[in-house]
Amino acid sequence: MNDIIVSPSILSADFANLESEINKIKNFGGSWVHVDVMDGHFVPNITIGVPVVKSIKKITDLPLDVHLMIENPEKYIEPFALSGSDIITFHYEASGEKTGEIIRLIKSFGKKAGLSIKPKTDINLIKKYLADLDLLLLMTVEPGFSGQSFIKEGVEKIKNIDLKEYPNLLVEVDGGINSETGKICKELGVKVLVSGNYIFKSDNMKQAIDNLRE
Ligand code: DX5
Ligand code: ZN
Repeated sequence: MNDIIVSPSILSADFANLESEINKIKNFGGSWVHVDVMDGHFVPNITIGVPVVKSIKKITDLPLDVHLMIENPEKYIEPFALSGSDIITFHYEASGEKTGEIIRLIKSFGKKAGLSIKPKTDINLIKKYLADLDLLLLMTVEPGFSGQSFIKEGVEKIKNIDLKEYPNLLVEVDGGINSETGKICKELGVKVLVSGNYIFKSDNMKQAIDNLRE
């Protein structure tokens, strides 16, 4: 019940060898595959999109944890749902008033719905959506790049929420997560740890994943 879910971010993987990188996630005990989708507008970086998600889906049975860092997320829920995403997370800073509608849209495809906020966004703004969400993603770096340093305030805001009120909500953190910062997050009730550099740049990927989970 207290199992920690580790979701390695393939943004730090070798994209020329993506299949073997994803096989490593599975073989070394990763739980999900975290896929960072960036559009060059919502964040100052461009990564990958629907065709890559479709291809990944064919080579792994791990759940695909798709993190949309894009403007107008409502336009792209359907293609990402149909491409095999299992969990679709979008940003409140991009959805505003449309947040409730987008959560319903994701669920209409039978997918898990996640909402994310940046480190400086007030968590009280999204409280009203928590009962409808499967996942809350607290960013612990400014979204856009892997390899940045952990921002503690990004996760500490969880203290404003009584997690017991939302027994089905998984809290996930993303950005600068390693064994030490991961521990801080787990102590605050976080269940899902996304990690890019710490896992993929480590000499012992299995050990890194084990360290996050324990
Ligand atoms: C950042 C991405 C993260 C990133 C994490 O915008 O959402 O998923 O890849 O990488 P690390 O763990 O290296 O901070
Ligand atoms: Zn991410």
